[in-house]
Amino acid sequence: MHSRFIFILALFFLLTGCYSSATSGHQSFSSVVFQVTGNVYPTGYYYVTVNIGNPPKPYWLDLDTGSDLTWLQCDAPCTKCFPAPHKPYKPNKNLVTCMDPLCASVHWPETLNCESPNDQCDYEVQYADHGSSLGLLVNDRFRLKYTNGTLVEPRLAFGCGYDQEVEASMNPPYTDGVLGLGLGKASILRQLNELGVTKKCGGSLS
Ligand SMILES: *[C@@H]1O[C@H](CO)[C@@H](O)[C@H](O)[C@H]1NC(C)=O
Repeated sequence: MHSRFIFILALFFLLTGCYSSATSGHQSFSSVVFQVTGNVYPTGYYYVTVNIGNPPKPYWLDLDTGSDLTWLQCDAPCTKCFPAPHKPYKPNKNLVTCMDPLCASVHWPETLNCESPNDQCDYEVQYADHGSSLGLLVNDRFRLKYTNGTLVEPRLAFGCGYDQEVEASMNPPYTDGVLGLGLGKASILRQLNELGVTKKCGGSLS
């Protein structure tokens, strides 16, 4: 019980977009909150519900602190989607292009050769434990809430995954995708900071 509380607390700080402890008490504080659901047992995993698109639809995203990219199963069309709580996301026409710095960051450390500046940005993520996702980067609105309750709807880049591999033996979480909470450029926490939606709380990010 105790360790679970600490875990949730740690998660809250992670998700508020602050990377280091906030020491100055009266600094204006813009944090967004995500609703975390799940438990250690019997569910065995935690996920957040995120509303994405216009009109916004809810998706359940598995939390992963070890990777940057957030992705959703996507009807682009979906060639290999696993059973999920919601219908695959239908992408709009807002693709992230190959020239976008976010695209390069998703491909790092490999260098990316764009044949044409308007090429779509393909991605592939591999997880040590539960499979992989292949797709393209898109942009859409995320409906988020500040800690004071005010809604904000920034446009964020994420993966539209149309070819997923899961190891059945791994008992994968019943979610629509993954929320990547790494600190790389493609992470939505980092995107929120760069857009000025959230503030860095005294930490430096390079
Ligand atoms: C809530 O917080 C955000 C971010 O700090 C701010 O822009 C907004 O004006 C606040 N809303 C209210 C009602 O105070």
